[in-house]
Amino acid sequence: MTELSEFANSSELWPTPTGRWSVLGIEPEVFEQKLLAAGLAPSSLRPYHADELPYLDGLLLAGALSTAADPVALLRTLTPSLKPSATLAIIDWQADGPPTYGPNFEVRFKRGLLCRLLRAAGFGQVDTMDYHPVYYEVFAVKGPPRPLPHAAEFVEVAQLSDLPGNSMKKVEVYGHQIVVANTGREIVAFAHACPHAEGPLELGRLRRQLIACPLHGYIWNVSTGNPVMPDDEDCLRRYSVKVDDVRDTIMVSLAPPPESIVAD
Ligand code: FES
Repeated sequence: MTELSEFANSSELWPTPTGRWSVLGIEPEVFEQKLLAAGLAPSSLRPYHADELPYLDGLLLAGALSTAADPVALLRTLTPSLKPSATLAIIDWQADGPPTYGPNFEVRFKRGLLCRLLRAAGFGQVDTMDYHPVYYEVFAVKGPPRPLPHAAEFVEVAQLSDLPGNSMKKVEVYGHQIVVANTGREIVAFAHACPHAEGPLELGRLRRQLIACPLHGYIWNVSTGNPVMPDDEDCLRRYSVKVDDVRDTIMVSLAPPPESIVAD
């Protein structure tokens, strides 16, 4: 069988790991070599031991979720023990990847659900390094989200009268591709890239609060950001909206809506 390490390509995609790191999962020696190739000092590698978790700057889970009896329980055990600002790097098989590679579908752990659980566990930065069809690499940093420049500034993006119910429009705010939509009840703004695999959501089908992605048909609620079908995906990133009825304008900022909560 093709091994995960034959796909995972850390040295090209990862930020340089610093501080103390350990590897948990399959082929730990091979993945330790990948950490070294990515720039980690040899003296910074530690054999994995649960008691060392609070002292690590980084932990690499290599196939650990798809080989764990209960991957959610594993995450809930590991994440509270890691110190603030620690990095958790996860490499594992895509849950909907080709059956010719990797383990049975029943044991694969969804990248989308992983990202959602990490945010709920206090990891404010959760980045997918590559949307590879066979495997995923996720980098998560424990602590508050990375501050976005200009996040507090509202930018005029559309005329209210140009956006009737059940319509949407792609706009750009400080370099971010965003969709503004009229659900018939409210004006909302959300990321143009679908959380599943970056499909262009402004080309999807909007019916009231629900949007179906044009690539694989997954459905999200654009008012809450929650995944609807399937419901074990990541949440849709949303942005703050202001509507000025008098000036007939819609304004968007990069900050999340005030009522945003991280879904569990
Ligand atoms: S990219 Fe797959 S459902 Fe959107």
